[in-house]
Amino acid sequence: MKHIFERGTNKGAPTLVLFHGTGGTERSLLTLAKRISPESSVLSLRGNILENGMPRFFRRLAEGVFDEADLIFRTKEVYEFLDTAAAEYGFDRDNLVAIGYSNGANIAGSLIFHHQNVLRGAILNHPMVPRRGIKLPDLTDIPIFIGAGTNDPICSAQETEELQSLLREAGASVEVHWEHFGHQLTTSEVDAAAVWFKKNLL
Ligand code: MLT
Repeated sequence: MKHIFERGTNKGAPTLVLFHGTGGTERSLLTLAKRISPESSVLSLRGNILENGMPRFFRRLAEGVFDEADLIFRTKEVYEFLDTAAAEYGFDRDNLVAIGYSNGANIAGSLIFHHQNVLRGAILNHPMVPRRGIKLPDLTDIPIFIGAGTNDPICSAQETEELQSLLREAGASVEVHWEHFGHQLTTSEVDAAAVWFKKNLL
């Protein structure tokens, strides 16, 4: 997969794995990552799908309607890429924290829904429920931050609450940070994620 790897100054800090939103690239979240954990190594991916020229991590049939077969295929592709990248760059495979926005939060959520021990934690900005009707792996004590908007037209407040319940039922410790905005990623949401990260993952 197309990506950037930047080695951090603190080998013990989690490596941040970045997943951009629709139309983003592997550069989109680099500044945000520095605000969350300036000393961390960063592995930032570009989604393999193009929708009208816009990179994404999996196909969709319409806005908010996922192509489930492609989501499953692409989730496995990312999972395997993390193993390959860990071997190539020598970062600790067991100390990865995802940061995803929108479509990127959805692929990160899908990784968590499908694979045990894939991530040590995650910051999901404006995620949806990636799949319904499957049994989640044991997520005991996995810290997950969800940034949500009370007026988000793509990820409704109910869907955010549904995602929170599914993750909690699987054992994850979930914190939801609400903004009174829509789907955009706000500065105060990033600040809240940075505080949460220091408390839960450093
Ligand atoms: C998605 O397709 O993952 C969601 O609708 C979010 C988006 O990318 O707009």
